[in-house]
Amino acid sequence: KNLHVAIVGATGAVGVEMIKTLEKRNFPVGKLTLLASARSVGKTLPFRGSDIPITELKEDSFAGVDVALFSAGGGISKQYAPHAVQAGAVVVDNSSAYRMDPDVPLVVPEINAADIKKSRGIIANPNCTTAITLMALFPLHQEFRVKRIFASSYQAVSGTGAQAIEELRAQVHAVTAGQPVEKKVYPHQIAFNVLPHVDSFLETGYTKEEMKMQNEGRRIMHHPTFKASVTCVRVPVYRAHSVAVNAEFERPVSLKDAREVLSQAPGLELVDDPAKAEYPLPLYVAEQDDCQVGRLRLDCALDNGLAFWVAGDQLLKGAALNAVQIAELI
Ligand code: A2P
Repeated sequence: KNLHVAIVGATGAVGVEMIKTLEKRNFPVGKLTLLASARSVGKTLPFRGSDIPITELKEDSFAGVDVALFSAGGGISKQYAPHAVQAGAVVVDNSSAYRMDPDVPLVVPEINAADIKKSRGIIANPNCTTAITLMALFPLHQEFRVKRIFASSYQAVSGTGAQAIEELRAQVHAVTAGQPVEKKVYPHQIAFNVLPHVDSFLETGYTKEEMKMQNEGRRIMHHPTFKASVTCVRVPVYRAHSVAVNAEFERPVSLKDAREVLSQAPGLELVDDPAKAEYPLPLYVAEQDDCQVGRLRLDCALDNGLAFWVAGDQLLKGAALNAVQIAELI
């Protein structure tokens, strides 16, 4: 049966990738409804060779919709996802609104696809940095049992949204032309800079983004004692997040076994030949479905520790692709 699919936030950085991913994976779309704010009414977006008009998101936008993919921020999801469910749609929500709700499965299909069955209408898509990290960490966990990780992220501006991509482009242009830099999205210049500040700060001094790794990681891996101390950093990269991870395991780790496990993991490519300067790079992993892992080494400061570097297109595996994969399983 062909499905009526709605995309909420269709004009956004993730929304546009959702449309492309539905097309690329030949998802059985019978009808596609593209929803955004009143600002976007009058615009169209291409799907399978035709131009689909954007309509304004309203409470009654979901009549007849089978699957609704949400990516317009947490507030919009909280407000409108219940209306979509009430209209009979299954919601895949890319925002953080429902991720920690015990009644809502939080799913990376390669890790916990079976959790989808417990859904009561909403399934949450994980944080992008968490999803990309877990693509490499979970296979290692299955082999060696992870206790805790220390990690630093190198996050692309497209994770913030379409306006942030434009801000980086405009700032690079301004700096190289010797003109004054304008800031709208970030509190500091992002061009030729790195910002140790992603999402808002908590009382502990960590940011919300940093705690998603532990909180969401526990749910996705079904590992309630998993610990993660993370520093999230925004870098002047358009697309694809990278994460430097130091992981400590219960069981002894060998490089040979780690390589073996990672080279067979679904949705992951092992790119690890430092002598040839081959390692995952955000520039090259951008627009790729698979995440990449490399720089594997036994950690010199942890017991049973492994250090690695994982990169992935956060608009795809961290968002649109993961959401469409979930929709395929429904
Ligand atoms: P619009 O383009 O009409 O503002 P991004 O994450 O790239 O910033 O994109 C956010 C997405 O969420 C866009 O598609 C945006 O639509 C949509 N959006 C933002 N606010 C609303 C709203 N109040 N109602 C519907 N869609 C919204």
